[in-house]
Amino acid sequence: MSADPAVGVVPLALKGAMDQVAGEIDRAFDRLLTPPGDSRARLFEAMRHAAIGGGKRLRPLLVRASADLFHVDRMPALRVGLAIEAIHVYSLVHDDLPCMDDDDLRRGRPTVHKAFDEATAVLAGDSLHALAFELLADPETHPDPFVRCELLVELARASGPSGMAGGQMMDLVAEDADFDIAAVTRLQQLKTGALIGFCLEAGAILGHVPAEGRRAIRAYSRDIGLAFQIADDLLDVEGTAEATGKAVGKDAAAGKATFVSLLGVERARRQAEILVDQAIGHLAAYGAEATLFRSIARYVVDRDR
Ligand code: IPE
Ligand code: IPE
Ligand code: MG
Ligand code: MG
Ligand code: MG
Repeated sequence: MSADPAVGVVPLALKGAMDQVAGEIDRAFDRLLTPPGDSRARLFEAMRHAAIGGGKRLRPLLVRASADLFHVDRMPALRVGLAIEAIHVYSLVHDDLPCMDDDDLRRGRPTVHKAFDEATAVLAGDSLHALAFELLADPETHPDPFVRCELLVELARASGPSGMAGGQMMDLVAEDADFDIAAVTRLQQLKTGALIGFCLEAGAILGHVPAEGRRAIRAYSRDIGLAFQIADDLLDVEGTAEATGKAVGKDAAAGKATFVSLLGVERARRQAEILVDQAIGHLAAYGAEATLFRSIARYVVDRDR
């Protein structure tokens, strides 16, 4: 937390940025998801239930931090932030379905299939997935078609079988298979790390930054992506449903291989902290302009939700 006056464990500057991004994301989804006056209204209501209110909005915040670092305007950053949050929310809606983690509570509210029904939840997820790509393909996001294309390809890669969906498959297999640390690391990198990696990459894409200029943020994102999922697995063991807004104790009950099941709580926490120090170390070439990144890295493991 260094010199920053802290609010709980969240430094004031980080809290301000998180609140601002959360407000912008809520207002934008509210505008985008106006229910039509026909029988699709239920689908829109389900998308609104999933996307508006709650959630840390960490991914849009990372897009903004990366965009700021590379001197990109806030509006493109917000639209890319909306796209990645739409993918993230879709992944949560499907992750909670009875055929996956079978959860009733998400962001302190009933999951979409509980508040609506399973078929509507599948369609709400599908529609949020499509919305993400529609947002990125729109010239309003960026006037340069090459930039839009790069964003689209990178988001497709990060969400598909070589990214989040592939990681979710490994996560399901992890209930029955004997996964070692290397296999769990790979699983987490795909399941969670790939979408977080996209957020950092997006700022560089919007700013036309060549590959050499992306090395530090790529290394940073690899480390915080893994630390973030270790913290999620720790919260499943040590957290409360009140704070996290979702059921806890699920991973052990499902017999899932995680860092915590393999290393135990103490060593898993230590591993997450090492990753955070390493992530911050990758920013050594930057000064005050990377302050937000450093605060986010600490928050990723200090959070209680
Ligand atoms: C939860 O993500 C699912 C994982 C990838 C671990 P978040 O912890 O970012 O959930 P919200 O968006 O704040 O609800
Ligand atoms: C889900 O991981 C990650 C994705 C949705 C891609 P978890 O199943 O651990 O997430 P929570 O704990 O339900 O939020
Ligand atoms: Mg899951
Ligand atoms: Mg889950
Ligand atoms: Mg979890």
